[in-house]
Amino acid sequence: MTKTKYKNWKVSHDEDGIAWLHLDVPKSTANTLSETVINELDSIVTELTKKEPTGVVILSDKESGFIAGADINEFTTFESEKTALVNIQRAHTIFNNIEKLSCPTVALIHGFCLGGGMELALACRYRIAEEDSSRLGLPEVKLGIHPGFGGTVRSIERMGSFSALDIMLTGRILKSRPAKKMRLINYAVPKRHLITAARQTVLKPPKIKALPWWESIINHSLVRPFVAKIMIKKVSARAARAHYPAPYAIIDLWLKHLGNRTKMLEEEAKSIAHLLVGKTAQNLIRVFKLTDKLKGLAKDKSVSINHIHVIGGGVMGGDIAIWCALQGFDVTLQDQRHETLAAVIKRAAKLYKKILKQKRYINSALDRLTPDINGNGLVKADVVIEAIFEDAEVKCNLYKEIEPKLKRTAIIATNTSSIPLEQLTASLKKPDRLVGLHFFNPVSKMPLVEIVVGEKTSKKAQQIATTLTKKIKKLPLPVTSTPGFLVNRILMPYLTEAVTLFEEGVPITVIDKVALNFGMPMGPIELADTVGLDICLHVAENLAESMPITVSEHLSKLVNKKLLGKKSGQGFYNFKKGKLVKPKNKTAYTPPGDIEDRLILRMINETMACLREHVAESKDLIDAGIIFGTGFAPFYGGPLQYVSERGQEQVLMALENLEKTHGPRFKPDEGWKTIVIE
Ligand code: NAI
Repeated sequence: MTKTKYKNWKVSHDEDGIAWLHLDVPKSTANTLSETVINELDSIVTELTKKEPTGVVILSDKESGFIAGADINEFTTFESEKTALVNIQRAHTIFNNIEKLSCPTVALIHGFCLGGGMELALACRYRIAEEDSSRLGLPEVKLGIHPGFGGTVRSIERMGSFSALDIMLTGRILKSRPAKKMRLINYAVPKRHLITAARQTVLKPPKIKALPWWESIINHSLVRPFVAKIMIKKVSARAARAHYPAPYAIIDLWLKHLGNRTKMLEEEAKSIAHLLVGKTAQNLIRVFKLTDKLKGLAKDKSVSINHIHVIGGGVMGGDIAIWCALQGFDVTLQDQRHETLAAVIKRAAKLYKKILKQKRYINSALDRLTPDINGNGLVKADVVIEAIFEDAEVKCNLYKEIEPKLKRTAIIATNTSSIPLEQLTASLKKPDRLVGLHFFNPVSKMPLVEIVVGEKTSKKAQQIATTLTKKIKKLPLPVTSTPGFLVNRILMPYLTEAVTLFEEGVPITVIDKVALNFGMPMGPIELADTVGLDICLHVAENLAESMPITVSEHLSKLVNKKLLGKKSGQGFYNFKKGKLVKPKNKTAYTPPGDIEDRLILRMINETMACLREHVAESKDLIDAGIIFGTGFAPFYGGPLQYVSERGQEQVLMALENLEKTHGPRFKPDEGWKTIVIE
């Protein structure tokens, strides 16, 4: 390898005259396209233009993959739209220069190739990806932006409009096979053939297949407006323009500028510069960083977990066991009933089929999940996850029975949703081994797990629980063992306020619509039906002892009649085959003006109480927990970030007004007077 003057790149030339550009950003596990990386690439490309090599291959020396994206930290440093634009335009020039190189250029990809990394690959003439490890895409919309290094133009040119718009609008990430099918890459090859494939491609450049004939039809200026209309309709069903402008900007670029390459590139740069400094992008970038912060909590490298034993194979325990085995752990699952265990295996087979698709992967995941009616797995378990009935005495009796069988170092992680850990440690000889591992339902979909730390929980038990959570690809959030922990405590006032509004005569569709307009992914009434009205009632009853929530009579009645929501087919709404049946609103109804504040500020007031009581460690962790645990509209950056933006004084005043009109449940928490939210 030739030594080079670059910090991030190593450039070598082989006997065939091919220039190999190895990217290896120092002190980092993944490559990102920072300004320095791009500037160095600029110098390299300028030199290459003079040398005229046989070909250029861009590859990564990192195990994690090619390039994970642009450097997201730089996204928050632009002083103005103008500065952002200058930076983007510079990157455009460099990427254009790569594209203009007269020799064949190849991006040789393994692992992650996302965002800016994918755009660099698209600027090359060929893209060859490793067939198993590659994960490719343009997921910028998830950060409130769109491709900005020429990617909107090049993806459409290489893939065709439908495929390119699909991956840009959804932000979905592809494995190499579908990526090849969609023309995002040219070849998917086994790892051992990567270098040869790149060399061969440079030496004998294959012809690139033309796009299918019908592409020209949808791209026609007379057809595009119709296609755009359909796409806008689809996008608006998922994300409102006012909250998430990026997907609309992508459609707009395509609609207005396709066919004029130079103009489209110019407009792409302007559009992304505008989006980058906007609130949505800044908040979504914050949320992305919060994800990293949560993952970073699992930092104890000495933690080793080999075997997990789950007790209780019901709704939660069954799904937790299924998920842990899916993520590669050996799991034994204990329940009192054979039928329950059989049902879990059936559920596992269904989920594994959906996710893993190939038989060999499905079978090995199923092999890792062992039904264990006698609890033989207890003796080898590093972690015992308890998910039996929500009854302190029953749980304590179980602990007493199992503790003598456990390894000295094993921890017990309870999935209790409401019992303080202090009530559960009494029966344990080693109470410091008990920690809460509070999963949310449905386990496979909910990203957050609360790590409930009791007074006696040891640091080691907390670290093991945190590490396990990260290893099973969930986000760990440490919280104190106080009623409702963080997520249920915040969610309940919001849900009970929604039920109060219903009892006052506001139609359920109106209540849900207000929340959706605010930016929630689902309205509170539909959410209650989805979670299960029995569960909501149970949590509300528990929390009513410690906070100002009223347990709704109507809710109790529904539960008594076994109308539990989605799972029983009827709750507030009706459900058909698991799908909500939208009731038809016949009469015009003008909702009271303060519904949004009534719903949202109850949640926000409780968030302030949690901050004051240090239920989670910091403002950032509380915001992260509430976004990932409740789905709180991410583009606000979290409830506390929302307060910062709306103004703390404004929020306090609104709460005081609501207290005057609707009573003491809106009484501002004392934190509003003592804590300043930055
Ligand atoms: P569930 O009633 O569906 O399942 C409990 C299972 O435990 C049953 O299959 C039962 O046979 C088994 N079981 C009871 N005692 C046992 C024992 N001594 N040994 C072996 N198996 C035993 O209950 P679910 O909903 O799964 O809840 C379990 C725990 O998870 C509770 O602590 C609950 O508060 C908590 N949780 C529930 C959530 C939900 O949405 N259902 C959400 C988050 C936490």
